Amino acid sequence: MSGFIVTGTDTDVGKTVVAAGLAQALRAAYWKPVQAGLDGETDSEAVTRLAPDAMVLPEAFRLATPCSPHEAARIDGVELADAALTLPETNRTLIVEGAGGALVPYREDLLAADLFARWALPAMVVARTALGTISHTLLTLEALAGRGVAVKGVVFVGEEEPVAEAAITRIRRVPHLGRLPRLEPLDADTLAAAVAANIRVDLLA
Ligand SMILES: Nc1ncnc2c1ncn2[C@@H]1O[C@H](COP(=O)(O)OP(=O)(O)O)[C@@H](O)[C@H]1O
Ligand SMILES: [Mg+2]
Repeated sequence: MSGFIVTGTDTDVGKTVVAAGLAQALRAAYWKPVQAGLDGETDSEAVTRLAPDAMVLPEAFRLATPCSPHEAARIDGVELADAALTLPETNRTLIVEGAGGALVPYREDLLAADLFARWALPAMVVARTALGTISHTLLTLEALAGRGVAVKGVVFVGEEEPVAEAAITRIRRVPHLGRLPRLEPLDADTLAAAVAANIRVDLLA
């Protein structure tokens, strides 16, 4: 199985947008194992809209409440069982988007990074460029390394912050995969152009 996991320093950092941009560039398959929150556009729906040439695979779990998967599952009376959390079959590159950040619980005995390690796919980290990102990103990279998850690099989202970006990638010696600016408007065309201009897709293929 070839592919990678898109994780991030937090929720709302831009994982879905980055995953969509990469899925379109690589004509990849996209999979969101657990969607927590069904009001408004889901992550899979956003990727369908932003990456018209990607193949969006069905989620393993669709939970009603927008919160940590372990709690969303409890509220819905569902168990996020190991047997249902296996990688889907595809002959495309598989891009998996985790919920929230790297240590979000799927169950009290199963954190996101434990799943990534079990799946044996490398991960890439989406990080804001905003103040505070150095520590959040280094913590995320340590958590992944501590579980034996290989790291492809970091994609930054936001205004250019060369000092913070360089500190992170030099201290952990991980590739800087590029920076996605805020796009206005954000649609399939502007995203594809921004990914082509700014992101090292070649390092992820
Ligand atoms: N580069 C960008 N330009 C404009 N809007 C963005 C960009 N990246 C993310 N967003 C917006 O910010 C919000 C959070 O992004 P999203 O990718 O859903 O984050 P996550 O998947 O990490 O929760 C969404 O409304 C999304 O459309
Ligand atoms: Mg998302």
